Amino acid sequence: MMENNIAVGIIGMGSCLPEKIVTNRDLEKTVNTSDEWIVERTGIKERRIADDATATSDIATIAATRALKDAGIPASEIDLIIVATATPDMMFPSTSCIIQKNIQAVNAAAFDLAAGCSGFVYGLVTGSQFIQSGLYKKVLVIGAETLSKILDWQDRNTCVLFGDGAGAALLGQVPAGCGLLGAHLGADGSGGDLLKLPGGGSRLPASTATVNERKHFVHMSGNEVFKFAIKIMGEAALKALEAAGLGSQDVDYLIPHQANLRIIHSAAKRLKIPLDKVMINVDKYGNTSAASIPIALEEAVDHGIIKNGDNVVLVGFGAGLTWAACVIKWCKGEKLIG
Ligand code: UT7
Repeated sequence: MMENNIAVGIIGMGSCLPEKIVTNRDLEKTVNTSDEWIVERTGIKERRIADDATATSDIATIAATRALKDAGIPASEIDLIIVATATPDMMFPSTSCIIQKNIQAVNAAAFDLAAGCSGFVYGLVTGSQFIQSGLYKKVLVIGAETLSKILDWQDRNTCVLFGDGAGAALLGQVPAGCGLLGAHLGADGSGGDLLKLPGGGSRLPASTATVNERKHFVHMSGNEVFKFAIKIMGEAALKALEAAGLGSQDVDYLIPHQANLRIIHSAAKRLKIPLDKVMINVDKYGNTSAASIPIALEEAVDHGIIKNGDNVVLVGFGAGLTWAACVIKWCKGEKLIG
């Protein structure tokens, strides 16, 4: 159990998905792939893709505005904005600062967090610490990506997998016993080469050569990442449950990172959680990286699948390599006593 006097939970949620749908059949026309292959190997049927004029901060701003509306809290009350993204608008300023300006969160500090697809859970755990310590009262955590902008649309190994989207959660104090009950974060930098965007940083600054060599796109050893994911998803979730003083039998609902249906099934099996207690929307949105967990969580809450009092486990893995899991006692909307 997390030892603290201030219980921290999600008090508002919002998401944003671009309108444009790209189906597997659409992709068949541009790369050597097939709907059958994509569905069988990943479970993905379609994904949302942002238009040329839309950047990560644009969809993140909409998600953030919706989360604030859901919580009934003005932007001026936000103390901190954390944005988990692998697709910032630019190297700097941070995407969180751009969103801070857009929503006029004039009293908020802001920073971005890079933990790949695990980023939202990393952000949730990080943001909670600021409230538990008493430093801040309201923290906005956003997972937002426009992966479509950094995909090599000629590379069938990667371009069929990802989609764009944003999800936001406003954190605040919740009644005792509710909110974040336990968490586990991890990293293994030795696997960094398995999933990376090599160009454009200080190691390999942008040049004509880096553009010609396609270094500004996602490079991934898919099968190696797959094997890592199969191992780590169950392990991470169990460690978070242990930190909460719970076991997998106590889980009411599992929100896994939506990367691949086979990975989700394997995690559920390892945790002995039946599939009717597992959120799956990878078929509709593909892998939206740091946005996938908040989008899936909001969808489950909106559909009434997650109810107050439920123990909800969020678990993800991603570039770094990283992994992150947490257990939340869902109490959104319950009035804070005292
Ligand atoms: O959020 C973290 C981000 N990363 C991930 O989540 C990725 C995790 N990995 C995966 O989801 C799976 O590894 C993939 C879906 C990427 C690939 O599935 P796999 O079962 O690991 O296949 P594979 O990489 O072993 O490739 C099998 C074959 C290869 O052909 P050969 O060499 O056996 O002839 C690939 O070239 O499938 C081929 N292939 C494709 N064929 C049709 C790869 N991509 C495609 C494609 N369409 N889009």
